[in-house]
Amino acid sequence: MRDSIIQIVYYASAILFILGLKRMSSPKTAVSGIHMAGIGVLLAILVSFFFPGMHNFALMLLAISLGSIIAFLAAKKVVMTSMPEMIAMFNGMGGGAAAAIAAVELLKITFNANVQMPATMFLLAVLGALIGAASFSGSILAFFKLRDWLKNIYFPLQQQINLGVLFAAILLGIIFYFSHAVFIFLLFFLACLTYGVLLTMSIGGADMPVVIALFNAFTGLAVACEGFVVNNIAMIIAGTIVGSSGTLLTLLMAKAMNRSIRNILFVRFGTTKSVNSVTGSIQAMEVEDAATMLNFVNKVIFVPGYGMALAQAQQKVWELASLLIDKGIDVKFAIHPVAGRMPGHMNVLLAEAGVPYDYIADMEEINPEFAATDIVIVIGANDVVNPAAKTDKTSPIYGMPILNVDQAKQIFVIKRGKGKGYAGIENLLFFNKKCHMVYGDAKAVISKMIAALKTA
Ligand code: TAP
Repeated sequence: MRDSIIQIVYYASAILFILGLKRMSSPKTAVSGIHMAGIGVLLAILVSFFFPGMHNFALMLLAISLGSIIAFLAAKKVVMTSMPEMIAMFNGMGGGAAAAIAAVELLKITFNANVQMPATMFLLAVLGALIGAASFSGSILAFFKLRDWLKNIYFPLQQQINLGVLFAAILLGIIFYFSHAVFIFLLFFLACLTYGVLLTMSIGGADMPVVIALFNAFTGLAVACEGFVVNNIAMIIAGTIVGSSGTLLTLLMAKAMNRSIRNILFVRFGTTKSVNSVTGSIQAMEVEDAATMLNFVNKVIFVPGYGMALAQAQQKVWELASLLIDKGIDVKFAIHPVAGRMPGHMNVLLAEAGVPYDYIADMEEINPEFAATDIVIVIGANDVVNPAAKTDKTSPIYGMPILNVDQAKQIFVIKRGKGKGYAGIENLLFFNKKCHMVYGDAKAVISKMIAALKTA
């Protein structure tokens, strides 16, 4: 009876995960989705206390309390620009937990000759350990790199050595199956952890969000593997959901950057340079002049990018947009899927500033509207509006879908100076005759525009 109730509760929490995830796909329902999934996790944790043979309750409660307090404080304190680091850290903990479960199960057969593990379960335990431990060490390294505490490290024969360590880990797992030796067990985990570090070592800082999404998928897979080993249905379902959604997210991000996963993992970004040089000149405009022109338009589209996040200008941008809306101007925000440095970066910033969802449009929806737009205001975005992606076959971003800002009647680009975007290339948009640069920090420029509009 108790067993059946436990299983029913696990299924109920799995259903809550799925419904929660579904709701997270829209900004309107995301918060309730997070609450739903959170309740699912809580249920799964609570019911685990009633598992037959469960003991060490004091230690469990202490670990859960410590973890919850640290996670709560970290999540409260984190600023939007540091979100990828935090996700990397939480991800790493998930992978580490899966690897720890595998270690406990594998040690049981090492120290107790009476405990038998069927070959398939052993395979799943070892696979979960490999993926979980590599995600753990890789995610921790990703955290350090995103914090700029560590630089990329390259050395000769890097890819071959990485592959060698991966094969060594697999071989040690096989040897452990036959030997049950503690020494081999330790070597196996050392090789898994080393592989995670080596894999992440050479990946560029701005590729890190994709790698973190990949580790997220790996962590889910590791949890699902261990769910089979300990016969826990909630772990199997939750792990599979995380694994598949993480994989989809990784593929979507790679596609939006026009890069393959292989390219992200094994090729240094920036090694392909455009061979076509840009000709023409860039025109600048004073903030006040740009603001004056805003008085005579019908339709304005804002295009936020990484620079808006750095300047923390989202509140001011919404203040400016509201002023224009009050004047009867049709205003929209265009969001590129990889604007900023993490999925949904711009959506989160705009939601934080209170921009209603109806004003926000994604790339496919907004692209046909640019041609009929009087003024586009690009705020700290660069690569995601670079027409080289459509016209220059030698460009590293060639093929990446972009926002068709160049089709608008007039374009203002707000950025501090001649700084390049993440791809490190010249932006053809800035040389367009319809484009004017309004130089300065995004927050300062937008504040000046607001002041100029108010006094006009
Ligand atoms: P970027 O191409 O990175 O350009 C950002 C621009 O912001 C820079 O050119 C910089 O020029 C400007 N800027 C910096 N600080 C500023 C400030 N305080 N005020 C005003 N402007 C400022 O940005 P994007 O267009 O959002 O493109 C994102 C890039 O990141 C893409 O290449 C994408 O593939 C890549 N990426 C995205 C993700 C995800 S999931 N979003 C993940 C990995 C990589 P100045 O220095 O001249 O000001």
